[in-house]
Amino acid sequence: MKILAIESSCDDTAAAVIDAEQVLANVVSSQPVHEIWGGVVPELASREHMKTIQPVVGLALKKAGLDLREIEGIAATRGPGLAGSLLVGFHFAKALALALDKPFLGINHMEGHVYAPFISGQLPPLPMLVLIVSGGHTQLIRVAQEGRYELLGQTLDDAAGEAFDKVAKLLGLGYPGGPAISREAASGDPAAFAFPRGLKGREGLDFSYSGLKTAVLHTLRALSEEQRRTRRADLCASFEEAVVDPLVGQSLRAIDLHGIRSLVLAGGVAANQRLRQRLLQANQGAGWQLVLPELAHCTDNAVMIARAAHGRLLRGERSGWDLEATPRFSLMELSESNP
Ligand SMILES: Nc1ncnc2c1ncn2[C@@H]1O[C@H](COP(=O)(O)OP(=O)(O)OP(=O)(O)O)[C@@H](O)[C@H]1O
Ligand SMILES: [Mg+2]
Repeated sequence: MKILAIESSCDDTAAAVIDAEQVLANVVSSQPVHEIWGGVVPELASREHMKTIQPVVGLALKKAGLDLREIEGIAATRGPGLAGSLLVGFHFAKALALALDKPFLGINHMEGHVYAPFISGQLPPLPMLVLIVSGGHTQLIRVAQEGRYELLGQTLDDAAGEAFDKVAKLLGLGYPGGPAISREAASGDPAAFAFPRGLKGREGLDFSYSGLKTAVLHTLRALSEEQRRTRRADLCASFEEAVVDPLVGQSLRAIDLHGIRSLVLAGGVAANQRLRQRLLQANQGAGWQLVLPELAHCTDNAVMIARAAHGRLLRGERSGWDLEATPRFSLMELSESNP
């Protein structure tokens, strides 16, 4: 099935075309306009989406070598995300589908992240555990049945990606912070600074990152300007380790507690090399399967939306023309009556 998918939940305008297992086009247009503000400005994001949505979709079709009439299904991110951003991509897709009389499906953005590694939407052995680590989410989710999500634990404050972005800002490393911090961390010592591990020693499967961010702030205040520069790699490596430690620890705990057979890493922070390496180490000789998404499919893209839509469209699922974008839309809300 040839699917055109559109993603515009935050500050990337993305369109992709897949034909069953094959990715025919994957176009992501980022918005540099936010860099000077050190974070995403929602109104600017929405305006940028309006400028780029048509060329981005046009380019995806051109790369795929397809005419719109050859597309057999259209999917778009419905939420969660920024209201003004979601509206642009979602309504563009819905209007196209309506005008061309094609099947249309609104997709949960986080379900997109979950499906990023799965060509044609085939899942690994269930029950699977999904560790979602992105700019807005840090969650451990159990999937015992395809399309049903059970929340096991989540961050009580900042998301892991948000912690990367905030600490990068403190260090003057720009936005988005994750890639910049991990580049610096590669030459640093992860044990140089003893940063706290959120909720260590507590029961449950939740996370906390606000104390870590404050600890970095206090450490920076105690350093001279020169030390901040010369010890930047150590600061980044120690911070990164303090983010990664609880992610790995809680995942292993969840695997033991909930009879898990596969672990899927999802979301933008899945691109983090230290996290991938630690999970690969933990997986050696273990009785569960580890699934890591390709680097190009970790941060927001439309291939993941197309993959999440693929199985659903094949099963005949359709969204009504009255469906609206939903800025607050938890994966746990998905059910048979609300697919
Ligand atoms: N190599 C990396 N290491 C750590 N973090 C990274 C890396 N690459 C990207 N990130 C982080 O990933 C986040 C972006 O991920 P993503 O695009 O999935 O988030 P989002 O779409 O803004 O949030 P959500 O998916 O929760 O709505 C940013 O916080 C960014 O700093
Ligand atoms: Mg995302």
